[in-house]
Amino acid sequence: MKKIIITGGAGFIGSHVVRRFVKNYPDYHIINLDKLTYAGNLANLKDIENYPNYQFIKGDIVDQPYITNLFEVEQPDAIIHLAAESHVDRSISNPVEFVMTNVVGTVNLLNAARNLWKGNYNEKRFYHVSTDEVYGTLGDTDMFTEKTAYDPHSPYSASKAGSDHFVRAYHDTYGLDTVISNCSNNYGSFHFPEKLIPLAIHNIKQNKPVPVYGKGENIRDWLWVEDHARAIDVIFHKAAPGSTYNIGGHNEWKNIDLIKLLCSILDKKLGRAEGESAKLITYVTDRAGHDLRYAIDATKLKNELGWEPSITFEEGLEKTVDWYLENQDWLNDVTSGHYQEYYSEQYNNR
Ligand code: NAD
Ligand code: DAU
Repeated sequence: MKKIIITGGAGFIGSHVVRRFVKNYPDYHIINLDKLTYAGNLANLKDIENYPNYQFIKGDIVDQPYITNLFEVEQPDAIIHLAAESHVDRSISNPVEFVMTNVVGTVNLLNAARNLWKGNYNEKRFYHVSTDEVYGTLGDTDMFTEKTAYDPHSPYSASKAGSDHFVRAYHDTYGLDTVISNCSNNYGSFHFPEKLIPLAIHNIKQNKPVPVYGKGENIRDWLWVEDHARAIDVIFHKAAPGSTYNIGGHNEWKNIDLIKLLCSILDKKLGRAEGESAKLITYVTDRAGHDLRYAIDATKLKNELGWEPSITFEEGLEKTVDWYLENQDWLNDVTSGHYQEYYSEQYNNR
């Protein structure tokens, strides 16, 4: 039996990765290690919480003695590391927290893995999940490849870039079996409603203003979260030690066009007159240091490991809007803050 620690498994992408591994690999023992910050919600994993190969541990990756001890006790064979502070706007107001979690937390995990495995990396692996934001911003036509130089602009992307550099340094210096993937913007179920797509769906539904930063001309490359989880599965199992893969869906949207599309989908689903929801669009002050365009070239992943997105954006967005309309309780618990009280009480002092 392989024991895998997945960090950040109670978050948006992490919960999809945990679900996929728990369901698809009954022979693996999956430990979800998560601090349950505001972004962590165990309700995201309700459907698999009683699976025999699943275990949740509440813990902080920044706490170095705790992480060292946890690795000695649990003796994991692999780490899939997703825990992070992930929201750019929060990084602008509180950069230090991003350095602590994203850089120091990652180095603590690398160190604990190195101390535990002691140079014997047979069947061992440290997989670091990162972002396309480390590459900075693009002009009109180029794309990010695995060879694009790092050029982060926000405290969030700078902290993720720092963590990527440490992962590569542990491979080059100590021989640790590491893999990194850099993915574009994800969307789908269980996405915390501070990020553009779930925030827009929620606000349109509630007849509240939909904030558009600047002129809405920034471009993001959107990928369905379950396709990201599948890419992580493929890369985890097949990638060579020390390798890097970009993950993306060739699916670029200007923010304003995407928001207008969501308004139109919701007009139909909520029985509103066409154009009604678009009246909620409200232009607000731009994000500081706002990257203009992201676009991922995922050719390497397709050619070497055979991964491609499984659904179109139209299908994925439809599924996502339906999920938010059908899961009002989840959204209410998150927006009211109730999810934190319930799960923190349940897991405090463990
Ligand atoms: P998220 O904010 O939804 O979830 C982060 C999770 O990490 C939460 O469950 C939180 O409780 C946990 N966490 C935070 N600090 C912790 C700590 N100190 N110790 C233990 N757990 C902690 O994030 P997400 O959007 O699911 O992103 C997951 C990973 O994927 C991140 O590393 C992010 O940089 C990367 N990524 C995200 C996207 C995206 O579009 N969301 C795209 C590419 C890469
Ligand atoms: O590219 C991958 C990254 O995508 C991940 O690494 C990050 O963790 C993830 O949060 C996401 O970052 P973005 O900053 O691109 O996502 P966000 O949803 O915050 O914003 C998407 C775009 O929409 C961006 O151009 C800012 C804009 N925006 C965002 C919000 C929240 C608005 O116009 N209005 C808003 O209210």
